[in-house]
Amino acid sequence: MKDTLKVGIIGGGLMGREAASAFGRWFVLENMPVRAELVAVCDLQDKLLDWFRQVPTVKLLTKDHHQLLACSDVDVVYVAVPHNLHEKLYLDVLAAGKDLLAEKPFGIDLGASLRIQEAIKKSGRFVRCSSEFPFLPGPQRIVQSLQAAQLGRILEIRSGFWHASDLDPLKPCNWKRQVKTCGEIGVMGDLGMHAVHVPFRLGWNPKRVYAQLQKIYTERPDGKGGMAPCDTWDNAMLHTDVEIDGREVPMRLETKRLAPGEMNTWFIEVLGTDGGFRYSTKEPKTVWQFERRKDQLWQRLEVGHQMAFPTITGGIFEAGFPDCFLQMWAAYAAERAGQLNGRFGCVTPEEAVRSHQLFSAALQSHQTKTVVTITN
Ligand SMILES: NC(=O)c1ccc[n+]([C@@H]2O[C@H](COP(=O)([O-])OP(=O)(O)OC[C@H]3O[C@@H](n4cnc5c(N)ncnc54)[C@H](O)[C@@H]3O)[C@@H](O)[C@H]2O)c1
Repeated sequence: MKDTLKVGIIGGGLMGREAASAFGRWFVLENMPVRAELVAVCDLQDKLLDWFRQVPTVKLLTKDHHQLLACSDVDVVYVAVPHNLHEKLYLDVLAAGKDLLAEKPFGIDLGASLRIQEAIKKSGRFVRCSSEFPFLPGPQRIVQSLQAAQLGRILEIRSGFWHASDLDPLKPCNWKRQVKTCGEIGVMGDLGMHAVHVPFRLGWNPKRVYAQLQKIYTERPDGKGGMAPCDTWDNAMLHTDVEIDGREVPMRLETKRLAPGEMNTWFIEVLGTDGGFRYSTKEPKTVWQFERRKDQLWQRLEVGHQMAFPTITGGIFEAGFPDCFLQMWAAYAAERAGQLNGRFGCVTPEEAVRSHQLFSAALQSHQTKTVVTITN
């Protein structure tokens, strides 16, 4: 008989419903030590609570997160709310004695992330932060190869996340475009965790940063006939130095809301003197692998649905967003149960705090137009 992980969701918007979809398909996972079940949901909007009525395992729908946290049936809480609410809600989850899968950026700023980290240490609860793209088969293949392979001297690293929906100046403003709800770090808070997860896990921690930040549209329609200010950073290019095998290597982290032609494009590129890798969700099945032999070869490797947590889906089929989101939850559940068994895990609180240290230094760098040393 498998253990059952009973989950409550606070914030049933875009990501809360995506999580419900993952739990609804949990049975496709093979040999999972844990079964996950969505039992309770909290959101402020009636229409969203109504949406969750179609999930048969949900016993509690509420607008008061304290009621969800008082529910003895809930083991783990997934919190997917605007960034200004992260600290308060994460601390409430921990105070209620529950485990947490937090959403990025793990607090609205560095101070919030440090207070959350402190509360986690005191509570002893199991906490991880969301970042799902590294769980796609392509990135998994690269991570395994990078841990094992000889690339020679690593020359440079690029990691990033781009989208383009904000190119339309008539796209209405929402909480993600305002400092008070998204945070001063703007696009770095929105997309940055996706860009740093793999580099941080491989031990590539920026020592210093030079940041180029852009605000492109400063107001947008407010949806009520007027205009609303948009004061967050839209695009961020972070030029950093990391140390690999005692040598400094440039690593560029790119997060952009206005990247022409891109739609949720997560990518990573690692180039060495003897070998390299390149992957983008634009070509979801393709890992490009460089090899320097007598000739220089860029080889195209097709990956299918070979997941770290195997599913019933045929190995030749393609993987997409809902698949990597399910894999991330499988990694969370397995690690919580002590059964990750060397597989790639979710972002740790320490890594999340480190991302804030980087983004905070990036703000300072952009403001002063200088290179800023990062203190961990
Ligand atoms: N991992 C990813 O790929 C990914 C993608 C998008 C967003 N996110 C993150 O997920 C979080 C939520 O983003 P989203 O896009 O789902 O936002 P959203 O606006 O679609 O949903 C947020 C929900 O929170 C609810 N809410 C607000 N205050 C609440 C409260 N006090 N109690 C209960 N519910 C409350 C809102 O009613 C709304 O339904 C953010 O941290 C964001 O950065 C992650």
